[in-house]
Amino acid sequence: MIVLGANSEISREFVELMIQKEGLKKVYLFSSNVDTLEPFGQHLKVKYGIDAGIYHYDLLELPDFDFSQLDYNLVFCASGYLGSQPDIDLSHKMDNDKILKINYSKLVLALNAISMDLIKKQTGTIIALSSVAGERGRKSNFIYGSAKAGFTAYLSGLRNYLFSHKIHVLTVKPGFMNTKMTAGLDLPKRLTISPEKAAKLIYKGYKRRKNTIYIAAIWRYIMFIIRNIPEFIFKKMSL
Ligand SMILES: NC(=O)c1ccc[n+]([C@@H]2O[C@H](COP(=O)([O-])OP(=O)(O)OC[C@H]3O[C@@H](n4cnc5c(N)ncnc54)[C@H](OP(=O)(O)O)[C@@H]3O)[C@@H](O)[C@H]2O)c1
Repeated sequence: MIVLGANSEISREFVELMIQKEGLKKVYLFSSNVDTLEPFGQHLKVKYGIDAGIYHYDLLELPDFDFSQLDYNLVFCASGYLGSQPDIDLSHKMDNDKILKINYSKLVLALNAISMDLIKKQTGTIIALSSVAGERGRKSNFIYGSAKAGFTAYLSGLRNYLFSHKIHVLTVKPGFMNTKMTAGLDLPKRLTISPEKAAKLIYKGYKRRKNTIYIAAIWRYIMFIIRNIPEFIFKKMSL
């Protein structure tokens, strides 16, 4: 299994679930920050006797990586970047550029490279985390939301493109999750789930070969309502 964004707590929980439930033996962890990843690699070694491959992979550098050298048929992609501002700042060129690259443009190129390799194998599954933020642009985070919207559309097309090659794509649309990305944000407790619970729901969706899942499921209904608020009302709201 290949993991992009291996420092995400959801990635780690998912890797452990795959080891415990599916007897996963080979894990390749890709990360923009391998130093913080080393303890997790050690943990996998001590607890499960697994030697994880650890690779420096910073999407902003657009690394050229030959994925065909690895033995895998599952890809878990948790790469994402919310932005350093609590609110949107249109003047913050560097940060907005980073949001667009990590959530969309560079990530698309990385998944294209992996997909080309999976096509040679004619088997595989890609699980990728997008966001409910991509379903309707809101004034509080529409740069991130628009990148996620693009990413969701990409995953939909990729699923269609890879179908005839027997490769499945699962789009995950999380609502609020209690992770380092949202640390310091005041999230509604009842709508916020732990990385452990999120990983379990993703695993369930993976086993059922779902195309798109919301985590948690209630977000399907919340987003249905949000998508259907008339624009003349929506544009006056503070969401
Ligand atoms: N937390 C939420 O409420 C929430 C809600 C909706 C959607 N999501 C999405 O869920 C996914 C996981 O997020 P999370 O909550 O677990 O937050 P997170 O811990 O910040 O995970 C995102 C991961 O993206 C990777 N990343 C960041 N910059 C990178 C770069 N330049 N190149 C390559 N990888 C980079 C990092 O992994 P490495 O350090 O290993 O590179 C990081 O751990 C993201 O796609 C996020 O947008 C989260």
